[in-house]
Amino acid sequence: MVVVANRLPVDLTVEEDGSTSWRRSPGGLVSALEPVMQAADGAWIGWTGSPDVEAEPFDADDMHLVPLTLSADEVADYYEGFSNDTLWPLSHDVISPPEFHRHWWDAYRRVNRRFAEAAAGLAAPGAVVWVHDYQLQLVPALLRELRPDLRIGYFHHIPFPPLEIFAQLPWRRQVVEGLLGADLVGFQRAGDAGNFIRVVRRLTDLAARGQLVTVPGHDGGEDRVVRAAAFPISIDSSRFDAMARRPEVRARAEEIRADLGNPAVLLLGVDRLDYTKGIRHRIKAYGELLAEGRLSVPDAALVQVASPSRENVEAYQQLRDEVEGLVGRINGEFGAIGSAAVYYLHHSYPPDEMAALYLAADVMLVTSLRDGMNLVAKEFVAACVDDRGVLVLSEFTGAADELSGALLVNPHDIDGLKDTIERAARMERKEMRARMRKLRRRVLADDVTKWSDSFLAALGAGVDGAEVPEQDVDHLRHAHQPHGEGPRGGDDA
Ligand code: F6P
Repeated sequence: MVVVANRLPVDLTVEEDGSTSWRRSPGGLVSALEPVMQAADGAWIGWTGSPDVEAEPFDADDMHLVPLTLSADEVADYYEGFSNDTLWPLSHDVISPPEFHRHWWDAYRRVNRRFAEAAAGLAAPGAVVWVHDYQLQLVPALLRELRPDLRIGYFHHIPFPPLEIFAQLPWRRQVVEGLLGADLVGFQRAGDAGNFIRVVRRLTDLAARGQLVTVPGHDGGEDRVVRAAAFPISIDSSRFDAMARRPEVRARAEEIRADLGNPAVLLLGVDRLDYTKGIRHRIKAYGELLAEGRLSVPDAALVQVASPSRENVEAYQQLRDEVEGLVGRINGEFGAIGSAAVYYLHHSYPPDEMAALYLAADVMLVTSLRDGMNLVAKEFVAACVDDRGVLVLSEFTGAADELSGALLVNPHDIDGLKDTIERAARMERKEMRARMRKLRRRVLADDVTKWSDSFLAALGAGVDGAEVPEQDVDHLRHAHQPHGEGPRGGDDA
């Protein structure tokens, strides 16, 4: 199997003394794919995370990694530009306005072609190639042109937008045609797959029935049937469970609580510093709870890990200023010497430190405004080995479709969010345990191996002539109303 993703699971990092080292890349895609690739005998093609780095293929952590070089201009136009300032906001309810630039699109096409060529050169005859995420939506069709013998799967890790939003993209038809080069197109939620099928129906002349789209063969060749369906992603749950049981991790969790002055309620947020994550909404709600005396320092403390992300994109720089301004204001008002209201950490941490933080927390706050899945929510649950801890979860995450047992919130509704945070902070142990047990059963059963096995089985099984049960067709017909059309709460948008 060949995996093709924008990034390798490790980034090349230049240290202060000029030396270089490989460090784990950020984000959910890497957390999900790493265990899959460690178990499989395959290669992973991806960018090194820095411009102009030429590196030979190498083995790391039981994976065979094949670096692909991007120039500084390509990083600016393909990655920061088209991927993260056009497609990303377009796919997340246009929370930040997407920018459409023709030279970004040109770079996106060029770089997608290079990824496709690299995969075509590496894959054995008849091999499975698994392409990942929105940065590489043209790769399936480009690869099929080069290597029609391959079985091609594509998985979309982020939301697929409703037709009404996707239609803004000047190159919408090319993107859809790119995806239809795959045999199987996977999404996080049935709603995303439904949005895609609706886009296919409206923007192409192709016949789509239920989950299946018929694509005419090249030069009078046989028709192909492409399937679009939901495969909700997960984590290596037993690894997090095992990590959270290790004595040194448990000791670290206690140390964290002690260092914070053993607060009665430790609230935790863990996100890439991204405007989709609702970090401002959660800090604002927490600040108001302190102002109203419904929570107080030092009984309560909020730890917010905000790992650096896409720092050259203006919308991310602006968000950082806003979040840091808000944290400063709340600490200035409610903090004291030795006890801050918010502990803000602009860093990434290794998985065992994350497990200790999850164990230490009483309430986990996941308040995304839109999120494909949100694997942090699942990591928290997998680490709560004592059935202690409450998950507050935005209804706008893919995880909300699966994790009953969480307290669901609409993060735009600041008053509702405050009530839910307060309820979580005061929850009786009995209710907490019952909810967490339910959550853990789900997360431990539906792990990342199950996700990849089911995707690859569906890809290997083939779909030609597959019958779609009538209820699925019905579900796809009715379930996918556009999101994000409702009002976004005033200054909280
Ligand atoms: O899941 C969304 C995603 O963009 C992944 O493709 C990526 O691994 C992660 O978020 C982190 O983003 P980036 O690679 O831009 O740092």
